[in-house]
Amino acid sequence: MDPFCYHTGFGNFFESEAVPGSLPLNCNSPRHVPFKLYAELISGTSQSAPRHENQCTWVYRVQPSVAACEWTTPTQALFPLATAGLDQITAQPTLLKPSPVPTTQEDFLASLRCLGGAGDALSQRGYRIYTFCVQLSMDRCAFCNADGSVAIFLHKGSLKIQTELGWLQLEVGEVLIVPRGISFRVLNSDSADPGQGMMLEVFDGLFVLPDQGMIGTSGLASSRDFRIPVAAYDKTEVESRTFIIYHKFGGVFHIREFKYSVFDVVAWRGTYTPYKYNLANFCAVNTVTYDHMDPCIGTLLTVRDDAKAFALSLICFAPQRRVAKKTFRPPNLHRNCLMEFLVVLRGVYEARPHLVPPGGATLHNTGTPHGPFPDVYERNLNATDEVLESIEENFSLMVEARLPMVLTQYAKRELNCFSYATSWSTFERFTAGLMEI
Ligand SMILES: [Fe+2]
Repeated sequence: MDPFCYHTGFGNFFESEAVPGSLPLNCNSPRHVPFKLYAELISGTSQSAPRHENQCTWVYRVQPSVAACEWTTPTQALFPLATAGLDQITAQPTLLKPSPVPTTQEDFLASLRCLGGAGDALSQRGYRIYTFCVQLSMDRCAFCNADGSVAIFLHKGSLKIQTELGWLQLEVGEVLIVPRGISFRVLNSDSADPGQGMMLEVFDGLFVLPDQGMIGTSGLASSRDFRIPVAAYDKTEVESRTFIIYHKFGGVFHIREFKYSVFDVVAWRGTYTPYKYNLANFCAVNTVTYDHMDPCIGTLLTVRDDAKAFALSLICFAPQRRVAKKTFRPPNLHRNCLMEFLVVLRGVYEARPHLVPPGGATLHNTGTPHGPFPDVYERNLNATDEVLESIEENFSLMVEARLPMVLTQYAKRELNCFSYATSWSTFERFTAGLMEI
């Protein structure tokens, strides 16, 4: 049960105040803000970006963010498994097992393991994908990512997320987006059931809803179903322990120390916010006659680079009816000019059942052939045109990216299932019919 209240709507302009009267009226930065709060602007886009793309939020807080008492860059890398470099690129199909639960109790940041990615934070192009396992709540600290926005999704457990703009709860089947520069911390809802999942970090632009073209006004993710937190702040004043922000910038974690909690935003207004979305609300669009639509028809959110070119999409696979006639219904054999990283969140993925458990992932890099396994292929050749009411309850997310994904040594050494690349080798050759011609 989600205990929090939310605003609704994607990309709307919101106003939110935890204390009535704390939002300034008719002015963003008055000389005297109510309750002597500090006005602070967080920009999410270039400030001169076109109006329909421009995103920013004014926050009204007890203490300004600049009031950190210390800035330090540790001489030894903090969270080394999160900031590990990329290894050599892999062309063959790759199956990654779920990351194991760490033997020592870790919080969200300590448990981050980088699986791979492309590009880098300083060039502001590319992405990273991490696993996490939240056994401990982040205590008296927060994560602020200046390198990019993050998408967080679970395959096990549930989490509470405190952000500067308010609280959210995250369940399996939901996606949380925290845009660049908004501080947040992650709390485990149940210590006996660690929240496990993945985090996608994107260095390029912001996540936006895809254009719908000839689909029209309905279908895919509706703006209506996005949930945005309402203003909430920490009221505790007396705390002897320092509050630490782990400030990720240039691929490295820096430390900012405060005397008080940075979750002190009493009111805010703007368009630049964290938000979450439940995949069960996705309105899938697909054929009602024959043949396959490309997986891009399942695009939930997309990111474009500075040149407005495609950088990356988050694609949703959720339960749906299959009605195509005279059509091979599972995803077909194919090669893609984009990188595909697919993670199963719940249930089984139909093209490769019983091999990819929740939390497991497949990587099919740019140009790598892949598709259903031979037994799935054979079974579906003999299938009928009967309507399938729903694919076995499966929620999966696929990251489809322009840049190929390079794995880390951790992913290769600890999670790689080496036999996967030969999973298609038993496809038979049917040459008898050809010989007769
Ligand atoms: Fe594919």
